[in-house]
Amino acid sequence: MPPDTGELALQRRTRAHYEAYPFEFLTPGDEASIERMQPPPFIRFISRYAAPGMSVAELGCGPGRGTMYLGQNCLDVTALDLSRSSLELARSRAPQARYVEASNLALPFPDASFDLVISDGVIHHTPDAYRSFCENVRVLKPGGYYYLGVYNRNRYYYYLYTFLGAPLRQVEQFRLGQAAIYMTVFPVYYAAHLLKSRGKRTLRGARNFFYDYIMTPRASFHGRDEIEGWASRNRLDLVDYDPSLGNVHVFTLRKRLGNPGPL
Ligand SMILES: C[S@@+](CC[C@H](N)C(=O)[O-])C[C@H]1O[C@@H](n2cnc3c(N)ncnc32)[C@H](O)[C@@H]1O
Repeated sequence: MPPDTGELALQRRTRAHYEAYPFEFLTPGDEASIERMQPPPFIRFISRYAAPGMSVAELGCGPGRGTMYLGQNCLDVTALDLSRSSLELARSRAPQARYVEASNLALPFPDASFDLVISDGVIHHTPDAYRSFCENVRVLKPGGYYYLGVYNRNRYYYYLYTFLGAPLRQVEQFRLGQAAIYMTVFPVYYAAHLLKSRGKRTLRGARNFFYDYIMTPRASFHGRDEIEGWASRNRLDLVDYDPSLGNVHVFTLRKRLGNPGPL
């Protein structure tokens, strides 16, 4: 079924948002030791399930933090994102990968194309997280592994995005509102960020975090049971669950052999 105009409009706003504020926070020092910048469950996933030469789809690669790491592990990487400016940043960091500008809602790949599929912090920004999930599963080979990081409905961030973020996103639609947010709310966020990162976060990095967490036009939140329901409907087995990152929980799922598609 073709997406309705509401969905297209939301996706256009999301694209424009990440064009202006790509999820970019790496310093040259971070790039030089990129493993340090990966979430521990992601490092674990790669060390357990990846082998040199495997085909990997990184769906919603952003500016290439994960793409660089995948390339260093000698994987054959296809990286996709909705945002061209994010893809350009990623390409400059990991030129060996293939880059595709497209939506997670309609992946331009045949069924069963990849040994591994990675989606870290992406499907919850799409207009329909479940459809994106199904698309990710469709392009995974039977027997392949799927790394999924998604916002946890049961963490405080849901309340922050919903109750603090909603009025700010309204105000931001006006030019004066944008300036007011940047001069009042953002400095508070930046100060908190500096404290948390012990002075390591740059102004640009903090700004992009702020716009990703609070101002992004779309964020949906999902409990463990919901994701497990999606997994069983799509004939996937849960092989690992990690809630330790806080607002994002991580699922490692395996597509069953002989999987004929969703139930
Ligand atoms: C929070 S960033 C995560 C980037 C990267 N995975 C990481 O962990 O560094 C979310 C990314 O999802 C992308 N995105 C949002 N909606 C999308 C869609 N419908 N299709 C593909 N990518 C999308 C954004 O452009 C952005 O780069």
